[in-house]
Amino acid sequence: MHAFRDVDYDRYTITKEYDPEVETVRQRDMIERAASLAKEREEKLGRRMSACVVTFGCQMNARDSEKISGVLISSGIELVDDENADIVIYNTCTVRDNANQRVYGRLGNLGVMKKKHPDKKIVLCGCMVQEAAVIEKIRQTYPFVDMIFGTHNIYKFPELLVRLLEEDGMIVDVWKKTDSVVENLPTLRKYPFKSGVNIMFGCDNFCSYCIVPYVRGRERSRKSSEILEEVRRLADSGVSEVMLLGQNVNSYGRGLEGELNFPGLLREVEKTEGIRRIRFMTSHPKDLSDELIEVMAESSKICSHLHLPVQSGSSRVLEMMNRKYTRESYLKLVSKLRAAMPELSITTDIIVGFPGEEPADIDETVSLVHEAAYDNAFTFIYSKRAGTPASNYESKMSEEEIGEGFNRVLAAVQEEARKNVSRFAGRTMEVLVEDVNDKDKEYVTGRLSGNVLVHFKGDASLIGSYLQVKLCENKGFYYIGERV
Ligand code: 5AD
Ligand code: SF4
Repeated sequence: MHAFRDVDYDRYTITKEYDPEVETVRQRDMIERAASLAKEREEKLGRRMSACVVTFGCQMNARDSEKISGVLISSGIELVDDENADIVIYNTCTVRDNANQRVYGRLGNLGVMKKKHPDKKIVLCGCMVQEAAVIEKIRQTYPFVDMIFGTHNIYKFPELLVRLLEEDGMIVDVWKKTDSVVENLPTLRKYPFKSGVNIMFGCDNFCSYCIVPYVRGRERSRKSSEILEEVRRLADSGVSEVMLLGQNVNSYGRGLEGELNFPGLLREVEKTEGIRRIRFMTSHPKDLSDELIEVMAESSKICSHLHLPVQSGSSRVLEMMNRKYTRESYLKLVSKLRAAMPELSITTDIIVGFPGEEPADIDETVSLVHEAAYDNAFTFIYSKRAGTPASNYESKMSEEEIGEGFNRVLAAVQEEARKNVSRFAGRTMEVLVEDVNDKDKEYVTGRLSGNVLVHFKGDASLIGSYLQVKLCENKGFYYIGERV
């Protein structure tokens, strides 16, 4: 590993001494300081400073971007969609290599823009920069980047923003790990009526293909009192749907003495007045408990959707992946879920081309897709991630075989989705309206409790409302409906 003077990979002992409450106050002071610096710039420019936050990757990152945006807005900086902005922040993902490549490609374009506007500030954060090799590449190939910070110290973004506005040269602040969770910093919600809520950070599962445990660190749960307080505040400000976020929500509370477990937390969230829909992501099949099934089945607010990543239908491959369940136990779990909740929509993630996988294993994945009767699935081609155990395994298939296998899995997913989603056809169901349709402004887009998208005629005034919509036409993964 490269030793950089200003990359401090071992701040663990220092963060341990931090008092999270003192830290919150400190960061709030920093927002005031950033605001006065932004004001000075504004006077020079004759207009407000602008910032563009671009999010790659998952729901966790989307939530982190809302925190970054909240700090920017609180500092008087205008948020825009255009990368011509004074500050551009890429919140990156590294789960697959193509996510990294996309960032490098776009950084090249930013460099060209910066040549014309040398005052432009370019910031990289998120999972990708948790890797030392990435930081080295950026230093060498993209030296015009002004700041890099990681996933563990996002709570000190106000302080980093002050430094960005005050200092020249590349600022690098990436921590290897942290044990603290700093609460109560401003957050700008993308949607007024729904919000993600982090319930835990990090991951201890170490699936052999996955880089997340290395870039997001060890599992840490937030205190339930803090989570419930956040949900209550969100509900008071008009949020009716919350999505509880964690890499594996089923292990929520582990390691916190006297803390609720995940079903217990759901029971408490359910009691919050004003919350009408509760979602959560992601649930690992290895420890989804009977108690969780019971709570879901009894609840009137928990949505009838479960994202249950299977990754492969072959027990042999699952073992190599270190998933800690088999094809049989997964399918048994699906049957149990369906027996308790006949309407439940189940979705999944699948990886094709894991090193050691053979075409016969893919046959098993295809048959599992049919047996599990998914409403939808994300299908990925395996991407080798440096430092993970699987990066040392040898592939047994050619690229053509992997491509052919991928297409077979995708065809099965599409066939099942069309078939299973059609069970709602002709029914009138509750839809939460989320947005005006981006392709046709006469339409709005909303979601069923089961997460299926529905497009129907309407306008922006309907956003955030719950409406009864007749599901007229099944388009595979979504419906065209009519308001009744
Ligand atoms: N290659 C391909 N897909 C991956 N995922 C995680 N790591 C990899 C990898 N190395 C997929 C898994 C996971 C989803 C978020 O990303 O399917 O569930
Ligand atoms: Fe990407 Fe995973 Fe990080 Fe989410 S947690 S941003 S999917 S690498």
